[in-house]
Amino acid sequence: MFEGDGRRKAGEAIAAAFLAKYPDAKPEQVEFERNRLARAPLVVAVVSRAAPHVKIPEWEQVLSSGAAAMSLVVAAHALGFGATWITEWYSYDRAVLDALGLAPHEKITGFVHIGRPAQAPEDRPRPALADIVTRFK
Ligand SMILES: Cc1cc2nc3c(=O)[nH]c(=O)nc-3n(C[C@H](O)[C@H](O)[C@H](O)COP(=O)(O)O)c2cc1C
Repeated sequence: MFEGDGRRKAGEAIAAAFLAKYPDAKPEQVEFERNRLARAPLVVAVVSRAAPHVKIPEWEQVLSSGAAAMSLVVAAHALGFGATWITEWYSYDRAVLDALGLAPHEKITGFVHIGRPAQAPEDRPRPALADIVTRFK
């Protein structure tokens, strides 16, 4: 969980990994990366430890982690906050994951950003239900 100064501190690891990948990056690009987790007052990293288990299929553990992240988004909205689930490149960068304290078998499910929206979110075109639903007959 990242709040207060921890957000920029974690951002230092993101910025460092970005610079290692793109040594010629412009200062404003590096600053953008440093600020990644500081755009909301609270960012919760949902981490999956899915692994082979005697009873629980790994697939169901993976799905459960996604369900936990989604529940967090829905709960935050129900409480009147805005929330968004973001992964981005740094969810898959080993140097960043090490700096954030993830073990090699752990994965980022998502960074759930929670705050009070400054403006209403824009929507996007949605598919017609008939195009994405198959009715079994
Ligand atoms: C698993 C997952 C990963 C996402 N990763 C990113 C991301 O890396 N960058 C980003 O801008 N948004 C990311 N999002 C947010 C989505 O692009 C989208 O804005 C959000 O899920 C809202 O969905 P909607 O457009 O259907 O309302 C992610 C969402 C999910 C569920």
